[in-house]
Amino acid sequence: MEHNVFMDSSGSKTHFFLLEICILAIGTCGAVTITVPTELVQGIVGQSLQLPVNYTTGTKDQNIQITWTFQSQSSGSMLLVTATNNTLTPDMEHGHRFSLFPPNATLLINPVELCDDGEYTIKVTVSGEKMASASRQLTVHVNVPVSKPVVHSDPAWGAVEYVDNATLTCTVSKGTKVIYQWLKDGKPLPASNRHIFSADNKMLFISPVVKDDLSNYTCVAKNSISINESEPIAPNIYYGPYDLMVKSEPRFKISEGVFAVGKGEPVWFKCSANSNPPNVYSWFQKANNKTTPIHRGPVLNIMSEKVPEKADYMCCVYNNITGKRDETQFTLILSATGQERQKQKSSFLHSLVIIVGLTLTLIACILLYFILRRCFPRKVIKKEPYHRSPTDYIRAHQVSVEQEPSMDDYGIYEFVAVPEPAEFPQVPPDKLSTVYDIIRVPDIHTVYEVICQTPKTS
Ligand SMILES: *[C@@H]1O[C@H](CO)[C@@H](O)[C@H](O)[C@H]1NC(C)=O
Ligand SMILES: *[C@@H]1O[C@H](CO)[C@@H](O)[C@H](O)[C@H]1NC(C)=O
Ligand SMILES: *[C@@H]1O[C@H](CO)[C@@H](O)[C@H](O)[C@H]1NC(C)=O
Ligand SMILES: *[C@@H]1O[C@H](CO)[C@@H](O)[C@H](O)[C@H]1NC(C)=O
Ligand SMILES: *[C@@H]1O[C@H](CO)[C@@H](O)[C@H](O)[C@H]1NC(C)=O
Ligand SMILES: *[C@@H]1O[C@H](CO)[C@@H](O)[C@H](O)[C@H]1NC(C)=O
Ligand SMILES: *[C@@H]1O[C@H](CO)[C@@H](O)[C@H](O)[C@H]1NC(C)=O
Ligand SMILES: *[C@@H]1O[C@H](CO)[C@@H](O)[C@H](O)[C@H]1NC(C)=O
Repeated sequence: MEHNVFMDSSGSKTHFFLLEICILAIGTCGAVTITVPTELVQGIVGQSLQLPVNYTTGTKDQNIQITWTFQSQSSGSMLLVTATNNTLTPDMEHGHRFSLFPPNATLLINPVELCDDGEYTIKVTVSGEKMASASRQLTVHVNVPVSKPVVHSDPAWGAVEYVDNATLTCTVSKGTKVIYQWLKDGKPLPASNRHIFSADNKMLFISPVVKDDLSNYTCVAKNSISINESEPIAPNIYYGPYDLMVKSEPRFKISEGVFAVGKGEPVWFKCSANSNPPNVYSWFQKANNKTTPIHRGPVLNIMSEKVPEKADYMCCVYNNITGKRDETQFTLILSATGQERQKQKSSFLHSLVIIVGLTLTLIACILLYFILRRCFPRKVIKKEPYHRSPTDYIRAHQVSVEQEPSMDDYGIYEFVAVPEPAEFPQVPPDKLSTVYDIIRVPDIHTVYEVICQTPKTS
């Protein structure tokens, strides 16, 4: 038995040292073994707590002593309970909340108090023929669960963007060792140059606020035994006006900022801009070098028979908290034929499309014609010479020479090819008239002729 070896050489410093290591390392030596499932135990104030422990001893018929002691920074070290041979001896000063059921060494604390937070040591000693002991340490953390956190926004009435700062403070009525975390629209909010957290994270300082800070903020408070989340809070931030625009029925719009309406037709205009609080809207008419306030409110209705032929209108928006304003202007043209203008505009477009289409077709045809002519110069007319006798040509020639005046050149012309230059009597170049031409194509020796078929009336 290992134990015997130690006992035999008792007095030796080496063995005493080994014994120490043995106890520290596995909490056992010789006949006593202590096992604990966990060295860190979380306690909740007001509830009961167990410090579970198992131990074994090697031999029977011995005296067994179980001792629990407690150490903390605030209260120092103290004895809690002792059990000798199944007899429990609670400490008279501290023992009333601590108990165990020997030979079971598990310590029960009921109820747990905050001051129970600290280090616990169990020591089991057996004494019979030989003496042996072992001890283990456990850590207990005692906490109060966190209640639902509450967030306060300061200033409560709201903050003007780019001017004011805002502070959000998170508080919990209950909870110990609370850690705070901030969420913006459900996502963790990182610190930035505009978002500063206090050292304990209980406070979020926004300096200065902007429109983007108008979100739902929640504070998460947690400790090692619980987590609780506040209701979302959206600080009131005054901003704007932004994105000012004027809308009307699309059919009245001619171009950006210009509307046309037929005389007598009613027309409305709606002015909108993003702002908090809602803007104050006012409308002005600028005509004949005069600006006149005409309406208040976001929608302007115009009875077109009562207004000038052409006038500029202005929508002004004003945020009475931020003190910022914006304005936009548009032109309203009144015409007897307000609707016709539209129609004209579209019919003009229509005819433009037709003209362009026709022109393109024409160009395409001409191009096609030239391409075909380049590629297949003889294809269409090659057959012609076989159907005509040379006398035809001569007669035609004569006709054209006789009827010199170009007025008589009127008629239908044919474009023919003559296969062999030799078969056809060449005409001196000076005798060629404007209508009668001979074209020579050197490589294939083909002669093209143009014949005028003068109408019978001549
Ligand atoms: C103690 O021993 C029992 C039986 O051997 C076992 O069921 C239990 O889980 C052990 N408890 C601890 C704290 O080790
Ligand atoms: C403890 O119990 C053992 C046997 O279970 C017995 O031998 C011993 O005498 C007891 N000691 C005391 C102090 O009662
Ligand atoms: C010791 O006591 C505790 C609580 O009283 C119990 O949960 C545990 O099972 C007991 N252990 C043994 C080994 O009986
Ligand atoms: C949060 O705290 C409230 C009391 O303030 C409590 O009723 C609730 O159960 C807690 N929620 C959680 C998840 O602990
Ligand atoms: C906002 O906080 C800044 C410092 O971060 C300070 O200089 C400024 O005066 C504060 N503005 C208001 C309106 O309190
Ligand atoms: C905050 O959340 C509520 C409900 O989820 C939602 O209706 C509201 O628009 C949110 N507020 C902001 C500023 O995002
Ligand atoms: C409009 O007023 C300006 C000065 O306010 C003046 O110079 C201009 O001549 C006026 N135009 C007309 C058309 O009255
Ligand atoms: C500012 O404008 C809002 C909305 O138009 C209005 O309800 C409020 O009375 C105005 N406040 C002041 C101080 O003019």
